[in-house]
Amino acid sequence: MSPLLFKDIELLAEITEIKRIYSVIENSLMKSNPACLVVTSGAPEEGKTTMVAALAAIAARQSDKRVLAVDFHWHAPALHSWFGLEPTFDIDDLRREKPVVDMAQSSGLNNLDILTARQSTQDEVEWNGAAPALGTDIMRKAREAYDFVVVDTSSIFPTNRRMMDPVAISKAADGVALVVLANVTPRQPLKRSRMFLETAGANVLGVIVNQWKNPLF
Ligand SMILES: Nc1ncnc2c1ncn2[C@@H]1O[C@H](COP(=O)(O)OP(=O)(O)OP(=O)(O)O)[C@@H](O)[C@H]1O
Ligand SMILES: [Mg+2]
Repeated sequence: MSPLLFKDIELLAEITEIKRIYSVIENSLMKSNPACLVVTSGAPEEGKTTMVAALAAIAARQSDKRVLAVDFHWHAPALHSWFGLEPTFDIDDLRREKPVVDMAQSSGLNNLDILTARQSTQDEVEWNGAAPALGTDIMRKAREAYDFVVVDTSSIFPTNRRMMDPVAISKAADGVALVVLANVTPRQPLKRSRMFLETAGANVLGVIVNQWKNPLF
């Protein structure tokens, strides 16, 4: 995707390149209904959250599918900010096994709900070991209530004990897309990410090349 000049979800969903990316993904996942896509990357700050927000908005707009975008970047959540939401679903909701539809919030766009990231609590460490199982359980339940579920995650590297491991949850999805930053993402973490995902049984659909020049690099 080319550099974006704005941060408005309605405008983001109008970008032709992202619509094309969505059609390729839709085509690849056509046999699965409901379908679940995980978006991850080899390194941080590659454009995953931007892509998830855009794909979710395009999916909801282009079809009559019920779409859920899930923020599993529990360590540094950001998806809610695209939709002007506050993270509301928390650890107590998980403990009470609240239904996914009750934890999700309306995005303000037709057919699109957002499951914001869980808010951190003192119990962080206690819950980390259980995170992949919780993640796959949420994905399974989300598929029962929505037609298309798109999951925003952290990058695969560096690993962080506070993160929901994208590799561990990837097999529960129908496909995984890796975002790379053109001319920035080093080859090695990307190759290792693909290898880790495939070894874990994930269906790696391909790579989304973000042409943005991050001023931090
Ligand atoms: N194509 C683009 N054009 C302009 N800005 C972009 C583009 N892609 C990403 N950005 C900006 O770069 C920053 C990082 O993007 P984003 O949050 O989507 O990355 P991320 O991979 O989700 O990061 P993290 O690893 O922290 O979750 C954001 O401020 C986003 O608006
Ligand atoms: Mg992100």
